[in-house]
Amino acid sequence: MTRLAGKRAAIIGAGSVGPGWGNGKATAVRFAQEGARVLCVDRDAAAADETAQLIRAGGGAAETLEADVTAPGTGAAVMEAMRRHWGGIDILDYNVGISAPGGILETSDEDWARIFEINLNAAMRLTRATLPAMRDQGSGAYIYVSSLAAVYSAPYSYLSYEVSKMALIRLARSVARENAAHGVRANAILPGVIETPHVTAFVDGQTDPEELAAKRAAMVPMGRQGTAWDVANAALYLASDEAGFVTGVELRVDGGLTA
Ligand SMILES: NC(=O)c1ccc[n+]([C@@H]2O[C@H](COP(=O)([O-])OP(=O)(O)OC[C@H]3O[C@@H](n4cnc5c(N)ncnc54)[C@H](O)[C@@H]3O)[C@@H](O)[C@H]2O)c1
Repeated sequence: MTRLAGKRAAIIGAGSVGPGWGNGKATAVRFAQEGARVLCVDRDAAAADETAQLIRAGGGAAETLEADVTAPGTGAAVMEAMRRHWGGIDILDYNVGISAPGGILETSDEDWARIFEINLNAAMRLTRATLPAMRDQGSGAYIYVSSLAAVYSAPYSYLSYEVSKMALIRLARSVARENAAHGVRANAILPGVIETPHVTAFVDGQTDPEELAAKRAAMVPMGRQGTAWDVANAALYLASDEAGFVTGVELRVDGGLTA
């Protein structure tokens, strides 16, 4: 349980929108299990607190920060909290992401701007606010939670989500390229069909959840939906020194969907 011993991690979107395990919540807990000291950042204070409590109950170290990634100054607030609680930052996992259905004709300027603000612009600003500290120490790791939707065309359209998540991959690669010589790595994770509270909450009102879960599982060559732990374990690898020579990659966590 020491794959992240001595590391200090900020998980952005460390709560979960419903009961159960979202990707950020599982990632925060997994990182702490492996020895990282974790800052749970979320706009929902209760959700961040729940994750931190779970970590502490397991003997790990966690603090929380209530912050909306779209608010001015959130990057500085995260950096300040990391310094105050843990003395600095080694890992930033950008997990916040939202979607809106619709193709090009259904997407309003407002929706497009809102989705890009959260899925991409805030990730850039958080990177800019934390990068100097990582560069100064000559090490660090960024993990951007993108989506398979960036590269896989589903039968339905989520245009602003798909395009913003593709841009997030490019952000990871650009940060990787620009900072490789400074010892700072940056990678993207592309989760596929994952069973998280976000998805469950979204589908519950529309159709029979069990039927939908079976349909989603049937899409995947492995015959099951992924879990938040599949995403958390991928993030753990990318955050750890085991991935010391791995930067600028798009790690698909999709059970073979795009194999
Ligand atoms: N669930 C899936 O099937 C799936 C598939 C592909 C990619 N993803 C990506 O995984 C990531 C996490 O998904 P999830 O379903 O586990 O998350 P989620 O919807 O449960 O959200 C995680 C947390 O983010 C917080 N959050 C939302 N907006 C915020 C904001 N503006 N500022 C601060 N915090 C905010 C929420 O309060 C929540 O606690 C997203 O980026 C999503 O696009 C999910």
